[in-house]
Amino acid sequence: MSTAPTARPHHIAIVMDGNGRWATRRFLPRLAGHRQGVESLRRCVRACVARGVGVLTVFAFSSENWNRPHDEVSGLMELMGKALVREVPQLAKDGVRLCFVGERAGLSAGMRGALEQAEALTPANTRLTLNVCFNYGGRWDIAQAAAKLAARGEPITEASLHAAMAMAHVPDPDLLIRTGGEKRISNFLLWQAAYAELYFSDRLWPDFDEAALDEAIADYAARERRFGRTSEQQQPAQPDPLCA
Ligand code: FPP
Repeated sequence: MSTAPTARPHHIAIVMDGNGRWATRRFLPRLAGHRQGVESLRRCVRACVARGVGVLTVFAFSSENWNRPHDEVSGLMELMGKALVREVPQLAKDGVRLCFVGERAGLSAGMRGALEQAEALTPANTRLTLNVCFNYGGRWDIAQAAAKLAARGEPITEASLHAAMAMAHVPDPDLLIRTGGEKRISNFLLWQAAYAELYFSDRLWPDFDEAALDEAIADYAARERRFGRTSEQQQPAQPDPLCA
């Protein structure tokens, strides 16, 4: 049931699914779909900047994606390296702060260096924070946060875990979009998405354009976010302090 319109989402998170099918339908190699996925991501970043979205978090490479065929994994790594060289200067000019979220230890030294270099070019930007989840898994994030607290001998509470997470630099996502027709979370933002509004689109990621983004935002705007409270208590909405 929807009541008063919810404000525009400050933080949008996206599972960019469907690149492989986009390519296969065109009798192209899967990597061509990922290449088109990068184009779609560029368009989406611009659209988010134009719409005043504060944070965009995308799932670019999961902890489980290493299990894909070797050629696809190395192709994705190469694509990421090239995309960084090509896109980062413009992102920096556009006021985008780039953050990579995920386990760095599993990446090659070259890739780790490229990610650090890209992040170093944009730290003071405030227009949009773009979190690229790369070698990321929601379970990994919860486990690494717990391990960090245990190593420091600190108590494990909701607040301390939240602060030790790899996504602690941004508020929790308001809207979580998954393209490609599947209706699952796939180990993305397991902790942070506790109160996110979920939106599933049948469009394949390369086809997810500005109009599709606007549809998702409009759908979100018609939702009532209750954070465990009743509808009557929603005047005005009081978000969970951990999700502020
Ligand atoms: C899922 O589609 C998509 C990915 C595993 C990669 C997403 C990456 C990008 C959009 C490009 C930006 C990221 C990098 C690394 C440069 P799928 O391959 O599972 O599609 P399918 O479900 O149709 O097979």
